[in-house]
Amino acid sequence: MAVWGKHYEIEIPKQPRPRRRTSKPLYATELGAMYCGKSEKVLKSRRLKELHGQAQLIFTSPPFPLNTKKRYGNLQGDEYVRWFARFAPLLREFLVNDGSIVIEIGNAWEPGRPVMSTTVLRALLAFLERGGLHLCQEFVWYNSARLPSPVEWVNKERIRVKDAFTRIWWMSPTERPKADNRKVLKEYSPSMKRLIETGKYNAGARPSEHHIGAESFKTNNNGAIPPNVVGADEMHSLNDLITPSSVLKAANTGSRDTYRDFCNERGASIHPARMPRALVEFFLKFLTEEGDLVLDPFGGSNTTGATAEQMGRRWVSVEAEWEYAVHSIGRFDPEALVGCDRELSIFELVETRDKDRTLFDEDWSDASISTAS
Ligand SMILES: C[S@@+](CC[C@H](N)C(=O)[O-])C[C@H]1O[C@@H](n2cnc3c(N)ncnc32)[C@H](O)[C@@H]1O
Repeated sequence: MAVWGKHYEIEIPKQPRPRRRTSKPLYATELGAMYCGKSEKVLKSRRLKELHGQAQLIFTSPPFPLNTKKRYGNLQGDEYVRWFARFAPLLREFLVNDGSIVIEIGNAWEPGRPVMSTTVLRALLAFLERGGLHLCQEFVWYNSARLPSPVEWVNKERIRVKDAFTRIWWMSPTERPKADNRKVLKEYSPSMKRLIETGKYNAGARPSEHHIGAESFKTNNNGAIPPNVVGADEMHSLNDLITPSSVLKAANTGSRDTYRDFCNERGASIHPARMPRALVEFFLKFLTEEGDLVLDPFGGSNTTGATAEQMGRRWVSVEAEWEYAVHSIGRFDPEALVGCDRELSIFELVETRDKDRTLFDEDWSDASISTAS
């Protein structure tokens, strides 16, 4: 595997050139392509429309209706609800018949008041309705390491507890999208392992009114079915998922965050709301197979694309902010790239920095990307 800064270097302009065409990928690999521009526009481009009816999964974390403005600026209230719901029919066009849309979104609070905003809930309901989608299941992503917030009510007045979860809505145009929980089995607990081994447990009626059959727990199903409340602790154990995936395991063994290092070494801002990679892995395993196409319309630092790449899924990501989009290239092995924007000059580091040996000289803007099946 080649490494940025050791085998290859890249020059990244601070800004995109004026009138850069957002319908051209910023960089691409054999499996996917990253676009920089507003999704509302990029997704309607001719190139992207060619992917209509092909995505098995749309997996994204949109900007939240936050009170404190992030630099990518968030809408609030009804304006946010309308903006967000308009994506539903647009995104649905990209899905295969049994495809899924999974959206991770945090809570919002009313500005200056110790009460929660219902904007997120209204936005999700409006999204379901506009897209004609079913809510297949709601997941809760619990983050125990989250800093206490909102500070005013939690730390100062001490009248609320810390807000420590985001919700994940799994939606689909069909009630039976492609899904297989056998792909996300967790390792059995020690007590369950013992039980399977010894075959000894108390069968019969339980206070919960469940009836436990004499044979129910004797079968080894190769792991436990995970719950819909997932968290940092839970996610660590995903490394030990029983589903064989040497690629995934290998990808997880390194504790270094290559994206963070890449940004730090180049003085770039690190994306403030990166998704945990384990979360993406979970849904890619659960809802897709190798070769399936995954789309992330609010790509940020492209956690989705990079995870899809490692798991052999095809991918397309779109991110509005140049700095985030362009530095997400640091997540990829430079030798996996098949092309990039002509303003990103990538060159091989030989003994002396030899800028003549650039990887991609020609403007590959019309090169076809390999995201079509
Ligand atoms: C919550 S972040 C996504 C983070 C991402 N999942 C990651 O792991 O890095 C939402 C992203 O959406 C981007 N964004 C906001 N409006 C957008 C739009 N209209 N089109 C495309 N991207 C947009 C923001 O710049 C931000 O990077």
